[in-house]
This record gives sequence, structure tokens and C-alpha cells, in this order.
Amino acid sequence: MVTTNRSKITANGNGRLYAHIVGWGKALPATIMTNADLAAFVETTDEWIVARTGIRERRIASETETTATLGLEAARRALEIADIMPDEIEMVVVATSTPDHIFPSTASLIQAGLGANRAGAFDLSAACSGFVYAVSMAAQAIQSGSIKTAVVIGSETMSRVMDWQDRGTCILFGDGAGAVVLRASHDEGGVLASVLRSDGTGGDLLGIPSVGTLDYVGDDISLPEAHGHKLNKMHMNGSEVYKFATRVIAESVLQVLEKAGLSLRDVKLIVPHQANLRIINAAARALKVDESLFMCNLDRYGNTSAASIPIALVEAVEQGLIQRGDPVVFVGFGGGLTWASMVVRWGAPTIDGQLRFKRQRRALTYAMARFRSRVTRMNHQMNDTIRRARPEQGRVDRLRERVKKLP
Ligand code: UT7
Repeated sequence: MVTTNRSKITANGNGRLYAHIVGWGKALPATIMTNADLAAFVETTDEWIVARTGIRERRIASETETTATLGLEAARRALEIADIMPDEIEMVVVATSTPDHIFPSTASLIQAGLGANRAGAFDLSAACSGFVYAVSMAAQAIQSGSIKTAVVIGSETMSRVMDWQDRGTCILFGDGAGAVVLRASHDEGGVLASVLRSDGTGGDLLGIPSVGTLDYVGDDISLPEAHGHKLNKMHMNGSEVYKFATRVIAESVLQVLEKAGLSLRDVKLIVPHQANLRIINAAARALKVDESLFMCNLDRYGNTSAASIPIALVEAVEQGLIQRGDPVVFVGFGGGLTWASMVVRWGAPTIDGQLRFKRQRRALTYAMARFRSRVTRMNHQMNDTIRRARPEQGRVDRLRERVKKLP
């Protein structure tokens, strides 16, 4: 049983450490772009998009929303559910293909926004499989006893890397973030098994050429433009990725269940990467299970890459589709090529309004974190201004010091 006093690890199990999901949250931009909105500037129709993908609308980040701001909002909501303080977090991992910067990492920006002053933070790049990879990494750190608490976030602003003239990709993607809090416990359950895979030979099938400006296509290594790719814009060979996705989902789900010592009959819900309804239905047919075993919300959000599994997970919990003790499977696939699956025995305590006594302290921590970031950055700016205004000052001071030390 996961204790509700999460500052301690409960010790009524077999002595092993387990990584339980004890908090979850999502953040979605308010702006909705429908298929009809898209059809106003791309040669497409609502009928085509719905029939070929199942997508009806997606969310688009405003000018002030970024991968970090969405991820921060999702993480704060997850902390509310988990009822933990930011200083209890020891690791912040952000799975993303659309980081705010190459560095600082989006995870570090979120760590600062949370005021998680005891945490390490890093981004993880495994495209749409990234969230499953990241949960697996954080769970292993918890299971090894290295840390007790981690926040794992999938956050994307795909709208910023869309080529809005490419109807084969821009109709598919949307923006959003989802987050979970993972916590150590001796109670059996949580992350039971994961299978992470990659086949880099498929790296040419989808990607976003950016800092390393050479693209690999066939034998040819040249600038992205030579292959019709645009810098910082996503390109995808849809039909090849479609074939890859329908092949790996069923295979990967069966592999991870075997690793966890479970069968498909045990599974309460499969939360797949939300790429295309036809891919999900094909996977259900391959596994010979009812389509309702798969969580699906892509009609409202489209493909939010690394954010799609945590957003779908949060909505599954909100809809009461997952109960305590239920085995749940996550399965992701995408750029790299990468794919990943995971079995989690849901062990989170039921949400209880009485537990939220730390809410005010968290709000205060967030306000202080904002203040600290501002003051620190102003300080950096001020030092810089002084250095520029009096370039000799530093040198004079150093000389004076040296003279003082002379015998
Ligand atoms: O998260 C990363 C993982 N990504 C995925 O899983 C995406 C996998 N791929 C897919 O979901 C599908 O391949 C797409 C939705 C991208 C495309 O669907 P499709 O059924 O494979 O269509 P297609 O690319 O074979 O194109 C069929 C036709 C073509 O016209 P012609 O050549 O038959 O005349 C396309 O030009 O549909 C045309 N088409 C469109 N028509 C209207 C392609 N995109 C559009 C569009 N609107 N947006």
C-alpha cells in the first residue's frame, strides 16, 4: 500500500524498493485549432483528417507559452495530487523534442520554476517514446535506492516545428504537457517492467534537422535542403512510419507483459502514443483485443509527441478508467526510430481533499522560486553592465591584490 504520508517510505513489503506513480497533471494551451481552421490555409478537409487519423482538433501554444511553461504547469498539478513539497524532488526529467533551448535544459527551467532546489534536472530525447524512456530511467533510480522522488514530464510545442505548408505532417500535431510524480515505496507495484528499443537505421523517416545541420538519407549525407528538409522544421515519411508503428506496438506490448510475468488478459488499460486512430485500431486487431482496451484522446489533441502518453494517462485517471491495483501498459513509438513499452501496477492512493495541507506552502515556494530567478538574473545582468561600464575596474582590483601580496 502506498502511504499517504509520502515523506517516509513505508516498510511493509519484501524489502525491495518500488517506484509508484503518486501524482499526475496535464497542461494544455487554451487555443483550439480545428480541422476546419487548418483547411482554411492548407489543402485538406475535415473529412480527410478524421477518416485517415481520427483527429478533430489540436491545441496551439500562445506566444508566451513554451515547452517549459506548459511542463511547469503540468508538474505543479502533479505535485498537488502527490501532495509533496518541491524540495522533496531529487530528479526532474523532461522528455521533449521541442526544448525551449538546446541548453539550458527545459528540465532545469522547470526545476527553477518549481523551486526544486535539491533536484538534478535533464532533458531526454527519444521523440514520441521519450516519456516511457524517462519514466523507466527515473523508476530505475528509485528502485536502486539512489533517489526517492522524481518528476517526469512529457512536454511539447510541436506547432513551432511544423512546416505549415506540409499537409502530410501539420494536420497531425499539437501542443501540450503531462507529468507524473514517482515515489519510492516498499509496497509491491508501480513500474513493473519496461522494454526500450531503437533502430537508428530509420532515422531518415522522421526528424527535425537543427544544430547538426547534416541529414542522412540513404548513402547521402548532406545539408537538409538537399533532401527537401527545412532547418528546424519536422519532416516525416508518413506511410513508412505507419508501417513501423503498427508492427512494433503489438510486439512491444507482448514483450513487456512477458517480462512483467503478466498476460494480456490481466491488463486493465493500454495507454498508447496518440499518433493515429488507425494505428491504434490496427494494434488492437494484431493483439486480438477490443479497441476499448486502448485509451484514446487524440480526437481532441492530435499527436503531442512525448506529451501524448502522460496527457492520455491523466485523462484515463480522471475518467475513472484506472483503479488501484490495475496493471496498465504504456506504449510509445516514433523518431529515432525508437519504441518503448512499460507495465505499471497502479498503486496511487485515491485523491483526498483533506490531504492538501501543503498547498499554501507550495504556492509560497513557487512565488519564492520566481523571485529568486528574477533576482539572480538581474544580478547577472547588473554584474555584466558594471563590467562593461568599467572594464578596467576588475583588472585594477586584481593588480592591487597582487601588489598587497608582494613581500
Ligand atoms: O509520432 C510520430 C509517429 N507518426 C505517426 O505515427 C504517423 C504515421 N503515419 C500516418 O499517420 C499516416 O501515414 C498519415 C496520416 C500521415 C497519412 O495517411 P495515409 O493514409 O498514409 O495517406 P498517404 O500519405 O498515403 O496519402 C494518401 C493521399 C495522397 O494523395 P494521392 O497521392 O493518393 O493523390 C496524399 O497526397 O492523401 C493525400 N494527402 C492528403 N489529402 C488531404 C496527404 N495528406 C493529406 C491531407 N489532406 N492532409
